[in-house]
Amino acid sequence: MKEYIDYQLKGNNTFGIPALCDRFIEYAGIDELKDLYARKLFEGKWMSIGCGANLLFCDDYHGVIIHSVARQVEIREENDRNLLVRAEAGLVLDDFIAQAVDNGWGGMENLSAIPCSVGAAPVQNVGAYGVEAKDVVESVLVFDTRDGSARTFTNAECAFGYRNSFFKTHPEYVVVSVDFRLTKKGNWQLRLDYGNLRSALSPQFSESDDALREIREAVCRIRHEKLPDPAVIGSAGSFFKNPVVDCAVVDRLLLDYPKMPFYEMGEGRKIPAGWMIEQSGWKGKRMGNAGVYEKQALVLVNLGGASGKEVWRLAQNIVDSVREKFGVEISPEVIKVSE
Ligand code: EPU
Repeated sequence: MKEYIDYQLKGNNTFGIPALCDRFIEYAGIDELKDLYARKLFEGKWMSIGCGANLLFCDDYHGVIIHSVARQVEIREENDRNLLVRAEAGLVLDDFIAQAVDNGWGGMENLSAIPCSVGAAPVQNVGAYGVEAKDVVESVLVFDTRDGSARTFTNAECAFGYRNSFFKTHPEYVVVSVDFRLTKKGNWQLRLDYGNLRSALSPQFSESDDALREIREAVCRIRHEKLPDPAVIGSAGSFFKNPVVDCAVVDRLLLDYPKMPFYEMGEGRKIPAGWMIEQSGWKGKRMGNAGVYEKQALVLVNLGGASGKEVWRLAQNIVDSVREKFGVEISPEVIKVSE
């Protein structure tokens, strides 16, 4: 276990926003969480972070931040068709996906290059190109900070929703490891129908031994074209969720905007917030040191030296514009951390 006092979080959030926390603790698994429990750490103010890819620090954090550095991968079960692989929370999700693809384990290739830790993947139910964490998570091992016990949540108990899960509203559970059910060749269920994924693959694409690698490379290419690299331009990927509205709302909007894209979602319809933000004139705009990414309006960026408050102010202005123009409320996917 490593502890740092008055720790600078600039390198621990993909927005690259400076903020201090009173104490930052790197721990290496459930035994060290038990030590922290014995030290009564969870009785004070604390939070757990992974890659900080979904956080906006608007103030210094006067509490303890814990961060897993446990990165083991272990095959728990295996048969001819599939396997159950346990990955520890501190592993970078994309490093795990790279291993899976190299080994021919299918299921997560569409989630390539999402900046995220394994531990955060089920909390946020991360998703991209037609796949969500919920499609591959079999169970999640968590530590209950209220009584120091361990507990396993099945997929159903995780209550996954769009960028949502039981854990999102229950931060008292810290994810220790995630068990993923992945498939072997012959049982892969490749998902190629989302957006422009199929057209990003070569015309000769087939379910050959190389298929997972080709999909992974295509996804990385599309993401690279549309989304900023957090190592170069600070961002948290999509800043807003795509709102799901009543069918009647879409019907009303289609009268004025016949080209508006939307997706059927069972009960309602999802409208791409990026489209509404672009139509509201925000794409590529800047306010102080914060801006709207010029290639994808759903992404807010730190143009250099932005504060969390500056980014939040821009976000509020965008929410107001979209409400005024479309009568639709969009809400942040990013979590604001403030006093
Ligand atoms: N669009 C615009 N203008 C824009 C951006 C998008 O008109 O500036 C339109 C596009 O033309 C398209 C539609 O909006 O018709 C959807 O765009 P896109 O496929 O780029 O996806 P998205 O809805 O903007 C979501 C996820 C992304 C994920 C992609 C691909 C959310 C909040 N975002 O974005 O996830 O990578 O789909 O699956 O659901 C993230 O969560 O951080 C993230 C990057």
